[in-house]
Amino acid sequence: MLTSIKKNSFENSESKKLAMMYFRVAIVLFGAQLLMGLIAAIQFIFPGFLFEIFDFSVARMVHIEALVVWMLYAMIGSVYFLMPDETGIETVGIKIAKLAFWVLTAAVTIVVLVFILVQIGPGTINSIWFINEGREYLEAPRWADIGIVVVILIFYWNVFSTYSKGKKTGIMTVLVADLMALAGLYLAGMFFTDNISIDQYWWWWVIHLWVEATWEVFVGALAAYALIRLIGAKREVVEMWLWIEVLMLFGSGILGLGHHYFWIGTPEYWWEIGALFSALEPVPLVAMFVHVLYDWGKEQGAAQAEGKEGSVAKNIPAMTWIVLNAFGNFLGAGIWGFFHTLPQVNIYTHGTQFTAAHGHLSFFGAYATILIGMMYIGLQYAYGIERMTSTFRSKMAVFLISFGVMGMTIALTIAGYEQVLIERAELGATWNAYFVAQDMPWYVQAQIWRSIMGVVTFIGFVYLVWDMLTIGKEQYREEAYIVERAATAV
Ligand code: HEM
Ligand code: HEM
Ligand SMILES: [Fe+2]
Repeated sequence: MLTSIKKNSFENSESKKLAMMYFRVAIVLFGAQLLMGLIAAIQFIFPGFLFEIFDFSVARMVHIEALVVWMLYAMIGSVYFLMPDETGIETVGIKIAKLAFWVLTAAVTIVVLVFILVQIGPGTINSIWFINEGREYLEAPRWADIGIVVVILIFYWNVFSTYSKGKKTGIMTVLVADLMALAGLYLAGMFFTDNISIDQYWWWWVIHLWVEATWEVFVGALAAYALIRLIGAKREVVEMWLWIEVLMLFGSGILGLGHHYFWIGTPEYWWEIGALFSALEPVPLVAMFVHVLYDWGKEQGAAQAEGKEGSVAKNIPAMTWIVLNAFGNFLGAGIWGFFHTLPQVNIYTHGTQFTAAHGHLSFFGAYATILIGMMYIGLQYAYGIERMTSTFRSKMAVFLISFGVMGMTIALTIAGYEQVLIERAELGATWNAYFVAQDMPWYVQAQIWRSIMGVVTFIGFVYLVWDMLTIGKEQYREEAYIVERAATAV
């Protein structure tokens, strides 16, 4: 009955429906990621926990693998979501796109099951092909790698054909170019060499050039799209910012790669190149931060001038996550990244819990936040809600997840600081020093706090899922009720 009064805005877009399918899998994997993190965190405190049943190496691997995969799912979902709006046409080849979704999801399920079921064994060419490729973040075996390449080619073909046929906005142009680089870089992590230096050299092409160049440009484009949708920011303004950010992100991010080439056997000139360009990396992040807050403030000011009260955002939960993204990207990647990016500092902090602190805050701040924001925009459209307001659950999710991740980051920073002082400076970074440092009170306490804050994060996640399952229906009913009342009053 309600649908007859209030039309569902989704009826016409298969691309947006596919986007929601990607978002659903993403959120499930996000949950799996957190559970694995909790297991690994407990194992830091009680090393015997689940020993030989679910080893630390497996829990850690699934934790970060699920992280990368859920983010890629949410990114692909975001593209399918915004493409009809940006190009003005339905995504080309949507049937095959849906098939690709199922193929990818089946492959991901098999890969994870194999990780969990085959935890130990010899490392051979066969295990690279069928079990685990052994590269952190890119552990998927080679058969899956090839499958992923095929699925991504289909995805890229969808994007490129839709772009070619439809309107060519600045946001779409940036995305089309960026996705080509992002997909192409994956290939650098696919071939095998038994020389660890060469292996690391290429591995960083994927990891660093993803998160510090192509992914950053990607979220720049998402933020531009979201600001237009949510607060009616002017396209000329956000797209101008976007081009400036693209220029700066690639300018510093590409040679910033050098900060991973300090100690892996690469030539010494990387010290200077890495130091200089990676130290410049926070600059575009500041620009992105200013951009979001400036546009938001300007739109709010304009609303107040018109006498409207409160925030003008059309979707408060989404806008909250996007503002958090501006802060989180700047803090996690910009500040926590800058801390350890100079070789003079990195020689002490390299591979300590300090790195893990930066890893958590940056992945969360720069990517998890805005992708959750995109999911809320998806929910708003799925239910055809004019203006999505926050709920108690959505606020709890924002608060507990951000507080939890920040808490974990601080705890890990303290643990890393202790390692730098005792393991590296005091005891000279020997093998023995590594273990001595891990028994010190500051380290142990920090690990306990990290676990507590991990539980806080997880409770926040439960609120998030609960909210995502209910907010749409609830607010749809409320709006429909108002529409119905208005209709009967006439
Ligand atoms: C959103 C963007 C970023 C993400 C997601 C990110 C994530 C990470 C992660 C996960 C690692 C650990 C990799 C490993 O397992 O070895 C790492 C290492 C590192 N990151 Fe970032 N990062 C980002 C941006 C930055 C920026 C902007 C800087 C510098 C200004 C930076 C500086 C570093 C350095 C120096 C290391 C090496 C740490 C070590 O030697 O142990 N990162 N990053
Ligand atoms: C329930 C909350 C979480 C817990 C308990 C947790 C715990 C852990 C543990 C124990 C590790 C292994 C660290 C090591 O080997 O020293 C780890 C690694 C990692 N986690 Fe989490 N995590 C949680 C949530 C997250 C979130 C929300 C993100 C990002 C969005 C994230 C990103 C990462 C990354 C990038 C690494 C690899 C870091 C590196 O290589 O330096 N985790 N996590
Ligand atoms: Fe990097």
